[in-house]
Formats: sequence, structure tokens, C-alpha cells
Amino acid sequence: MSQNIAKLEEKIAKAHLGGGEARIAKQHEKKKLTARERVNYFLDEGSFEEIGILVTHRTTDFGMENQKFYGDGVITGYGTVNGRLIYVFAQDFTVFGGALSETHAEKICKVMDHAMKVGAPVIGLNDSGGARIQEGVRSLGGYADIFYRNVQASGVVPQISAIMGPCAGGAVYSPAMTDFTIMVQDTSYMFVTGPNVVKTVTNENVTSEELGGASTHSTKSGVTHLTAVSDIACLEDIKKLLSYLPQNNKETPAKLPYTLGEEIRESLESIVPDSSNKPYDMHDVVKGIIDEDSFFEIHKDYADNIIVGFARLGGRSIGIVANQPMSLAGVLDVESSKKAARFTRFCDCFNIPLLVLVDVPGFLPGTDQEWNGIILHGAKLLYALSEATVPRVTVITRKAYGGAYDVMNSKHIGADLNFAWPTAEIAVMGAKGASEIIFRKEIMEATDPELKLSEKEAEYAEKFATPFEAAQRGFIDEVIKPKDTRRKLLKAFSMLENKKVQRPDRKHGNIPL
Ligand code: COA
Repeated sequence: MSQNIAKLEEKIAKAHLGGGEARIAKQHEKKKLTARERVNYFLDEGSFEEIGILVTHRTTDFGMENQKFYGDGVITGYGTVNGRLIYVFAQDFTVFGGALSETHAEKICKVMDHAMKVGAPVIGLNDSGGARIQEGVRSLGGYADIFYRNVQASGVVPQISAIMGPCAGGAVYSPAMTDFTIMVQDTSYMFVTGPNVVKTVTNENVTSEELGGASTHSTKSGVTHLTAVSDIACLEDIKKLLSYLPQNNKETPAKLPYTLGEEIRESLESIVPDSSNKPYDMHDVVKGIIDEDSFFEIHKDYADNIIVGFARLGGRSIGIVANQPMSLAGVLDVESSKKAARFTRFCDCFNIPLLVLVDVPGFLPGTDQEWNGIILHGAKLLYALSEATVPRVTVITRKAYGGAYDVMNSKHIGADLNFAWPTAEIAVMGAKGASEIIFRKEIMEATDPELKLSEKEAEYAEKFATPFEAAQRGFIDEVIKPKDTRRKLLKAFSMLENKKVQRPDRKHGNIPL
């Protein structure tokens, strides 16, 4: 018996060494933790239970039968984060560069299957040279097995991908199909084809960092939702993100204890400037409404004319979608529509109520937008909000113009409660533009056209650049003082807690993609 136990212990010790001391040292030189260090840091101390520690690959080509490492380049299992069950896989770059073999994929699939059966999030810590080249199509099959499971798990359990090293070729498609991707600055990159292939095909000279580093994907492509300065910061961000999410689509996120107080927020009274063309920072409105320091922004550096993120309101987890007047006057364009639509759908999948803050002058005009399909992308946001069955509350702080008024969680597309501040301007367009069109003849014929225009503008603004016409029709449920917003929202979301909506039976809708 003791001999057998010694044998087991020897194997486990070998497995814990991954690809060996030298490769671990190389990993540390690159300022990266090893896969095992990442898992141990991420999960609650002592909670990790490993599955498949003694798995090895089955390849005999290219002398691979003599190169076997326990675990086969990926550490898989389960544990807890702040006491909640979490499944995890972490690719081990010290073993064949974390490259994905048939058995490596089987291990990942196994934890994904468990997660689906049990209803708990799956976190993937990716650090891999891609398909295990020695295995050819077997490795490709392994990827597809994972992709298939990503899709089956989508909207059932939260899936989060951390990119903590290379992630290239087919490997990118698993993270892309998960709910959130987080990249570590300077040590990770993602691309479908690397700089060498790019050079051959398009003759472009580009570095890995420029092509697919964290800063590229957080600003240009929007592929990553979050970026972190180090492995540790990345793992901390995932823990924080998880705190806003439920375990699966049948549950609601945990609510922190909260006692209703006065809840008046005077700071909200002075945010919107007197001039309707002056920008202000919608973050200040968010801050004025939510529980202290509870905002966790997603896609911060991408399409910053819209803000999305999680927050707590009276201890309850909510998703916020808010136009940002500080950037492009808060206009809706291709990127911001996609960003907000994706976030909305995530919240709806996982029973996270939505708060939409509106200050939008409309959709961005121009050939660039039209040729890049603003019609389709704007429709995505309209569709995503219209289909969302979670509690949905809107606050219009200032502009709600044109089609963008409809899109931004209007009453007409199923919002539950719509508030407006007295500064709201709910109209087809701005007063100047509107007057120039409808009073054109009168203005042209006036002895002083400038004066006439400003008179007409004032007349139009008086009637429509207010929330009152909309309130009279019931399109706005209540015009509220800014300082009362938090109190109103606390009550609104509490009232909507048991909201249930029955949708017509269908296979799935056909969101414009
Ligand atoms: N299949 C099998 N082994 C791989 C591998 C792969 N796809 N990618 C890397 N490795 C192995 C290397 O042979 C090396 O093994 P060793 O430790 O026994 O020497 C180890 O992983 C580390 O790779 P190395 O190239 O030394 O690391 P690096 O940090 O300099 O470069 C990459 C990392 C990912 C850029 C580089 O390894 C690479 O280009 N890999 C191939 C990527 C690819 O084309 N994948 C297939 C398409 S999806």
C-alpha cells in the first residue's frame, strides 16, 4: 500500500511541476504566473479540487510518445470564489506552450459539461500556442468540441475568458463566444492570423501587440471587455465581475443587505448644464444614483459615447446602459449600438435588471456610418432592449431625440417605468433643426430671418424640448427632481422584483447581426 501511495505522490509531484523548473522560470521572467499559481490565487484558499491531473496525450507521432506531462497542458477542476462554486480551466504554457491536444480539449469539455449540469460559471484562463501541431485534425476537433459547448452553455451559465498569454488562430473563437473576455496588458494577444501571415497576405508590417494586444482589443475592436495590468489584477477583476452575476440563468444575483434611508442625492441637481449643448459626464449621474463605489464598468475604452456596466442599487445587482454626452455628444453609432446591445442581452440572459440613462441627440449621420450598417447595428440595440424581459427602468436626463428616443428603452418597446428630469427634451430633433424645416418658408420671407428663426426655435423648444408633452401622453410615467432619482429607482426595482413576462413560443428570434 505504502508503495502505491508513494507512486501516486510521485506522479502528483510531477504533475505539479508542469513542464519543469526551467520553463516555469521562463514563465515568471515574462511576468506571468503559472497556470497552477493562477488557479490557486483565483479560488478560495484550499478549495480547489482538480479533475484529470494524471491525463496524458495519446499521440505517438514525431516522438511524442517520449514527451508526456501529467495534465497535458491544462489544469481543470472546481473550487469556490467567495464561497460560490466555480469551474475553472487554466492552460499551462510550460507544457507544449499550452497547446491544445485532443485530451487537453477533453479535459476542458469535462468541466464545461459539469458546469452545465450543476449550473455554475465556467472560467477559462487561456495561455496557449494554439492547436497542438503534432496532433493535426484531432486538435481541431477538440477546439470544435469546446466551441459547441460554449454555445450550449451560452445564456445558461456565465462564461468568462481571461487571456493571459498567446491566443491565436482557432483558439480565439472560444473566448469570443463566452460572455466576457479580459486581457492582461503587455503579456497577452489575440488574433486569427499572426504578424507573419499578415505580412505575407496583405504586406502589412505589424507587431503582435499592435495587431492583437490588450490595448488594440480594448479600444479598436472591442474584442476584450476588460484589460488588467497584471495576472493578479486580472484574476481580481474576474472575482469582482462574478460578484454581480448569478450562478446560472435560473437564479438571480445575490442581493446584499440594505436598509432604505433618506436617499436624497443633492449632487444630482447640478450635473446637467443650463445650455443644452454643453457636455457633462454621465458617470457623475451614475455615481449619484448607485450604492457607493459599486460601479464596475465594462468596455470602458471602447465606444465611450455609451457607458455600460454593473452596479448595485440598494444591494441589488443591476446593469446600466447610459449615453455619454462627454463623447460625441452621446450619439448612437455602430460601435456604441453593438456594445450596448451585447451588454443588454447578457443582463437579460442572467436576470439582471436594467437601468437606462438617456441623453442622446440621435444616430450619427454620415457615409461611414451608413456604409458600415448603422441601420443593422442600431436595430440590434432596439431588438435587444425590446426582447429583454428583466425589469427595465429609464431615466431621461436631457435629450431623447428622434429614433434614438424609441431605441433607448422607451415605454413603447416594453420599459416598465420611464422617468424624466425636468431638463429632458423629448422631440423628433433639436429645436433649431426642427424650426429650419417646418418654418422654412416663414423664416425666408421674414424681414429679419435670423430673428424669425430664433423666435420659432423658442416656440418649438417651449412645446417640445421638455418632458411634459411626453408625460401628458403617459410615455413618461413621472417627471422627477434629479435629487429624488435614487429613491425612485430603489422603489421601482423593488416593486419590479417579481416581474414575469410570457413571450410567444418560438425557436429563437432573428436578431439583426
Ligand atoms: N503545438 C505544439 N507545441 C507548441 C505549440 C503548438 N501549437 N506552440 C508552442 N509550442 C511549444 C514549443 O515547441 C515550445 O516547446 P519547448 O518548451 O519544448 O521548447 C513551447 O511550446 C514554448 O514555445 P516557444 O515558441 O518557445 O514560446 P514563445 O513564447 O517564444 O512563442 C508562440 C509562443 C505561441 C508565439 C509560438 O510558440 C508559436 O508561434 N506557436 C505556434 C502557434 C501556431 O501556429 N499554432 C497553431 C495554429 S492555431
